[in-house]
Amino acid sequence: MMIDLCEGQKFVAEAPVLVVACGRNIHYNRGGWMGDYSMIVDVAIAVDHLTLAARAEGLGTCWIGSFDNECIKKFLNIPEDVNVVALTPLGYPANPDVFQPVRDRKKLEEIISYETWSG
Ligand SMILES: Cc1cc2nc3c(=O)[nH]c(=O)nc-3n(C[C@H](O)[C@H](O)[C@H](O)COP(=O)(O)O)c2cc1C
Repeated sequence: MMIDLCEGQKFVAEAPVLVVACGRNIHYNRGGWMGDYSMIVDVAIAVDHLTLAARAEGLGTCWIGSFDNECIKKFLNIPEDVNVVALTPLGYPANPDVFQPVRDRKKLEEIISYETWSG
């Protein structure tokens, strides 16, 4: 069922655990503009930390952003004022070779501005 709710991505059902990361809307206008996005930032931080901690334990994850919020809420009985932000399968990869050093990383100069916006 969760495969269908994640746009047919079969691998979401291959791991022993599928984390469904949710947040209750805090209606906090962070930075004076974020409004309802504030909760998404908080949950994204938590899930990102989860992925890093998982990697340190030799576990694999994959950020899943293609999913149907309303249908997952119905399927898992998630309350109305809570929304799904992301999902990730969690488990030991069948092939540990999937953990490879990052290649083609952008140069720092391409992504960082000093003192003033440049780019
Ligand atoms: C917002 C967002 C949504 C994503 N949704 C999916 C998804 O539904 N399925 C998927 O296989 N990868 C998805 N990805 C991509 C991966 O989870 C991951 O970021 C990508 O494979 C690069 O990971 P790596 O840098 O660790 O190799 C998404 C990435 C982002 C940033």
